Amino acid sequence: MKILLCVFHPNIAESRVNKRWMEAVSDDSQITVHEVYSTYPNWSFDLKGEQQLVETHDRIVFQHPFQWYSVPPLMKKWLDEVLDYGWAYGSGGTALSGKEWLSAISTGGSAQSYQLGGSNGYDLLPSHCKIR
Ligand SMILES: Cc1cc2nc3c(=O)[nH]c(=O)nc-3n(C[C@H](O)[C@H](O)[C@H](O)COP(=O)(O)O)c2cc1C
Repeated sequence: MKILLCVFHPNIAESRVNKRWMEAVSDDSQITVHEVYSTYPNWSFDLKGEQQLVETHDRIVFQHPFQWYSVPPLMKKWLDEVLDYGWAYGSGGTALSGKEWLSAISTGGSAQSYQLGGSNGYDLLPSHCKIR
């Protein structure tokens, strides 16, 4: 299985968790590590290139820090622009069919704070899906 690891971290040089995760898989020949903030310092994607990367992998993993209960801003932009009508969804939009999608999310809050009854009030469930 070919795995695409899309890493979105606004300051990977200062990261402790996400940098370590990236380094842990850097020798794995099944995994392509795609560090998106470093690839696009001007935030202007090569849309066809990004779509080709997704097309040529079976499992897409989004790795990022949790930021304000959400994703880093460049990841939001990537989702909005790369997952385009006619490619990812809508008429003829079947490029993602059969692919697996996962999230690997680091948090500042402790594991305990993300339990039901913890200070965040909700738990973080592992997300993994296969797209039909
Ligand atoms: C702008 C911003 C927003 C953040 N929001 C959250 C949050 O909502 N919940 C949380 O648990 N941690 C939050 N954090 C903490 C980061 O998730 C945490 O520092 C990061 O996951 C650690 O990974 P790293 O060492 O790779 O940076 C936030 C950090 C920043 C900079």
